[in-house]
Amino acid sequence: MKIYVTRKIPQSGIDKLVAKGHEVDVSQKDGVLTREELLAALKQKPYDAVLCLLTDKIDKEVFEAVPTAKIFANYAVGFDNINLNDAKEKGVMITNTPGVLTETVAEHAFALILSITRRIAEADKFTKAGNFHGWGPMMLLGNDVSRKTLGIIGLGRIGSRVAYHAVKGFDMKIFYYDVKRDENFEKEYGVDSTGSPRAQFASVEDVLKNSDFVSIHVPLLPETKHLISAEKLKMMKPSAYLVNTSRGSIIDEVALVEALKNKIIKGAALDVFENEPALAPGLAELENIIITPHIASATEETRSKMSEIAAANIIAVLDGQAPPNPVLQK
Ligand code: GLV
Ligand code: GLV
Repeated sequence: MKIYVTRKIPQSGIDKLVAKGHEVDVSQKDGVLTREELLAALKQKPYDAVLCLLTDKIDKEVFEAVPTAKIFANYAVGFDNINLNDAKEKGVMITNTPGVLTETVAEHAFALILSITRRIAEADKFTKAGNFHGWGPMMLLGNDVSRKTLGIIGLGRIGSRVAYHAVKGFDMKIFYYDVKRDENFEKEYGVDSTGSPRAQFASVEDVLKNSDFVSIHVPLLPETKHLISAEKLKMMKPSAYLVNTSRGSIIDEVALVEALKNKIIKGAALDVFENEPALAPGLAELENIIITPHIASATEETRSKMSEIAAANIIAVLDGQAPPNPVLQK
């Protein structure tokens, strides 16, 4: 059968599709297809499946460009780029790539936590610019992580893994918010030497008020858009740091620029942005922020596994089987 892949991805998944005897066309453009390019590409052949990326906006018009496609396999765990109602209406199966990127994204979230508090990016720039003229007792002072409080907004696979690093590696205390409380998670971490729980369920407001670091791990939904607003930023401690590896629009980015300028919070480290690849005006000029270009799942290992999982979802659906990772049941 015929499969269209909207951008070059690691070869391992493509090889699986080809080994199954499928014909695979991969976009040759070194970049995101424009809307027009995407529609034109999908009209080239009666494709049976499409492997798309989080940078492709997928909706009714796209499904109508390729009415033969039974599945759109998203090369991401997030799927806010896809209109699920339109997919349902058109009877198209949507799948994602959960699980394989959990540890990788959690590692990046922790890299950001350590980097922002220890001013790693700033220190690197400072040193490479020739400003290191000898050890200094007051030079580039940061803050400790050990035994501080980490706030987790969204205790899914990734949020739980970040909590694991925090408690096991840094003796941190956890305040977490999720749509549902997870008592097993709380039990797993028990109490500290003073008898107080290491992991506590709390409202978003209480997570923000109590944490030295806040790490965001919710999916982007109408209910989570601008969950971190100007008002919520004011609830955080002036000494706190905000980290986001989920989706940019969870934070009101313009409000964050103001909060960082006015020292409402101490710093932020972001991997995702509201209008990627654009950054809110002023964001990149701030000293107290670290920004990475949506690379939290970007390891050689994980990006290959994501390719294989997306392929496995396509293979299952084209074989008439249920895919391993559906995000919408028909
Ligand atoms: C990356 O942002 C993903 O959703 O996989
Ligand atoms: C995403 O995979 C999550 O559950 O955090």
